[in-house]
Amino acid sequence: MTQTIFSGIQPSGTLTIGNYLGAMKQFPELQDEYNSYFCIVDHHAITVPQDRLKLRERTRSLAAMYIACGIDPNKVTLFIQSEVPAHTELAWMLQCVASVGELERMTQFKDKSEGQESVTAGLLTYPPLMAADILLYQTDIVPVGDDQKQHIELTRNLAERFNNRYNDIFNVPDIKIQEVGARIMSLQNPTKKMSKSDDNQKATIYLLDDPKRIEKKIKSAVTDSEGIIEFDKDNKPGISNLLNIYAGFTNKSVDQIVAEYEGKGYGDFKTDLAEIVSNYISDIQQRYHELYESEELDDILDQGQEKANKVASKTLKKAKKAMGIGRVHQKR
Ligand code: TYM
Repeated sequence: MTQTIFSGIQPSGTLTIGNYLGAMKQFPELQDEYNSYFCIVDHHAITVPQDRLKLRERTRSLAAMYIACGIDPNKVTLFIQSEVPAHTELAWMLQCVASVGELERMTQFKDKSEGQESVTAGLLTYPPLMAADILLYQTDIVPVGDDQKQHIELTRNLAERFNNRYNDIFNVPDIKIQEVGARIMSLQNPTKKMSKSDDNQKATIYLLDDPKRIEKKIKSAVTDSEGIIEFDKDNKPGISNLLNIYAGFTNKSVDQIVAEYEGKGYGDFKTDLAEIVSNYISDIQQRYHELYESEELDDILDQGQEKANKVASKTLKKAKKAMGIGRVHQKR
């Protein structure tokens, strides 16, 4: 039987090359082989404050970006999380299976709440919502970047706990992580991951950046004073990150790239890398702009909504029955 994949991205900012290399790049490669669901997880985005107009724009923008990056709407189901109410409904049920302790132990929660006077309850209960996203489609495989590992582990635990406690309803999914690109780091602080919500614009290359900006950002990327191009994540995190980006966009191995640049300096390497990244993403950008303005995009999302609702409501119905949610009907 064809296996199912599910992945989601938050519309919380313009997509970065980290999102692309860690997650999106593999989606078109998987869509022929798997029954595929790709989601714009807008409910996840509101766990932190958002500008409402921007959020709605980014939701549409992300849908266009998925397709511009190569997913084929005829082959996959592309949809918006908030248009399929089963997600928040199952999320509530899974919150009643999860413990506060295990949610408080999530590193993402710890990072995002550290030093804050107050955080939303949604930030804490975000992982059961993510679990609901995945489990509603009886997902076999979740292709994501390395930073989502702990959330997938929790999803597996919640699925198993639910199955054992109530009834065997959910498939227990596996994670799929790219070899190269699983964790692209900030250009300004290469020990921190590149993030679409980073305040420092220089730290991040966005998929919609123009060639000039890309060149500027790469040229000012933090490296080291040694000037030797080699991969050493612990001692040379800056150049190692740039090597990973280079490998991700060329499909060459890091070793091969290191060999090609033997005896050359960071300047040459950075100039080439800027050109490679710009050329690669210029096709994506062109497709993106055409799609964003098109009515076709609305049709695609309408179809996605319909298909996702159909599948999700079936699983939700089973899960509710297993848990005892709803009433018994009087026999007539
Ligand atoms: P999000 O929106 O932060 O990121 C989307 C995808 O991009 C990957 N990613 C990265 N990969 C490599 N290097 C980076 N610097 C980098 N930054 C982000 C993420 O791992 C992710 O695959 N919780 C999820 C969204 C989500 C989801 C889901 C994912 C909600 N429900 C169900 C999969 C399945 C998130 O915040 O991703």
